[in-house]
Order: sequence, then structure tokens, then C-alpha cells
Amino acid sequence: MESKSSVPPYPLTGSQLSLSPPRAVSRKVRRVSDYIAANRAIWNAWTTYFATSAHHADAALVHTGGSSLRSIEREEVGSVRGRTLLHLQCNMGADTLSWARLGAQVTGVDIAENAIGAARALARETGLPARFLQSDVYALPAVLADEFDIVFASYGVLCWLPDLPRWAEIAARYVRPGGVFYLAEMHPFTNVFTTADPTGSGLDLHAARPYFHTAVPAAEKVEHTGAGNLTTLYSWSYGLGEVVSALLDAGLRLDFLNEHAVAFYQRFPTLVRGDDG
Ligand SMILES: C[S@@+](CC[C@H](N)C(=O)[O-])C[C@H]1O[C@@H](n2cnc3c(N)ncnc32)[C@H](O)[C@@H]1O
Repeated sequence: MESKSSVPPYPLTGSQLSLSPPRAVSRKVRRVSDYIAANRAIWNAWTTYFATSAHHADAALVHTGGSSLRSIEREEVGSVRGRTLLHLQCNMGADTLSWARLGAQVTGVDIAENAIGAARALARETGLPARFLQSDVYALPAVLADEFDIVFASYGVLCWLPDLPRWAEIAARYVRPGGVFYLAEMHPFTNVFTTADPTGSGLDLHAARPYFHTAVPAAEKVEHTGAGNLTTLYSWSYGLGEVVSALLDAGLRLDFLNEHAVAFYQRFPTLVRGDDG
């Protein structure tokens, strides 16, 4: 398990993302399935309309023979050649196919059918062997029975989960005896903060989300079609201890927990690009 720093759920850049400050959903209590459906619709729309997003840039990298994986996960996961790998919440499959390029036998899962469609197309166009399944991760045990050498999830997966302990149980269920679960995630401390002006001085950060989990998600308005129309996205917070405890309670053993003083995209204006990109 691993953790690293930066903010929320969607590595879209300022021009694609319009945020209003998160607030507790108070007027209308919705069912968890409603929140998940709303988020799924947003991911479908982002896949379709935000061709300039970081996710599309990752897919383009893979398309031209490169890798979208960062050095952190490449080094911490180690060699994947000949190993089976399940990628949870794989979006358009850029990382999944990057692992395939390194010799893993990969399966990617995501709830957004447009993302899975794009992942399948990317696999076809690159000739990289892969299996992609469209499924809510919570429903995965009903459609996937295998076990894997490596279960992998990264950057922006936890905030979509209403029930982290159940997710951890599902992740653990897919690790074959002797296999590993690996998570690289944005540091939950940085998820607390937001900036009103993403292009400003960076000195106006304010606390906008809880650090610890609450059953009621934070709600924020995001632009999802690129046409200026806003819709509500829902996200849940989990503190570092809650994440580690959920995974341990699911029966996994902790091998290491590394905190890195980097973000993988320009989450706050004060961040500067490192020599390694
Ligand atoms: C920030 S992206 C993850 C990106 C990932 N690091 C990658 O490899 O590209 C979050 C993904 O989680 C997916 N997602 C959100 N809720 C989900 C759920 N309940 N089940 C499966 N996928 C879900 C979204 O569709 C989206 O593609």
C-alpha cells in the first residue's frame, strides 16, 4: 500500500474543470446507488467530452508506444512479467495497458462504459492483450471469479467509494495466496484543501472537505460536457488510518507504506514540475 500527495478525484486541468466549493448534501438525502449513478454519468461524460484531459493524454502516450505509469508504482510494484494483474477503476485503461506492455496479463475494471469502450479500442489499436470489464467495483464478485498475482489501484480511486471496508474486502478477495495488493493514492491530507483560484498565487487554500470519513458525501458542481453545464459530483473522504485499517481488516498484511512529497499533476498553484516530469 502506498500514498502520495495532491487533490481530488479527477486530474482534469483548470480549463476543463469548474468547481464550486464542496458542501455537505443536506437538502435531499439520496441513496448510495444514486450517488454512484451520478458519478458514473460524470465519468462517462468526461470520457466523451474532455479529450484534452490528463486521462486522454495518458491514453495518447500508450497509443504512441509509451507508458502512463509513474516511476513510483513501477518501482514499488516491481517486475510484472508473466504475472496476472487486476486493475480496479482503470478508466480508459492507459495504466492497465502500460502494465501489459511490461509483460503482465491484465484485466481492467471500471463502472463507466465509455471509459471501458475507450480502453478496449486502445487495446485493439495498440495490439496489447487485455481484458476489460464494465462493472461497478462493488458488483465485481458477481462477474469475475479469478484470482490475481497483483491487484492494482491508483490515483483517484478512493474518493468514489461509499464503503471502503467493503471495497477492501473485494480487493483482498482477488489477491491469490502469495499475491499482492498495491495502492498508490493521493495523500488524504491534501484532499481536505481546495483553492478558489487554480491559477492564482496558491495562498488561498482553504479546508473544503473532511479528513475523516462521513457517510454523507461532499457534493460539488463540476462541468462535465464542456458546454458550461454543471452537474453534481459526490465524493467521500478517508483518512490514512481508515485506509490502512480497512485493508488490514480485509486480511491483507502491510509490507510498506510510503509517503512521497510529490503530486502527479498540478493540483495546487504553488507546485512546480520536477525534473522527472
Ligand atoms: C480518477 S479515475 C482513476 C484513474 C486511474 N488512476 C487510471 O488508471 O486511469 C477514477 C475511475 O473510477 C471509476 N469509478 C468510480 N466509481 C466506481 C465504481 N463504483 N466502480 C468502478 N469504477 C468506478 C470512474 O469511472 C473512473 O474511471
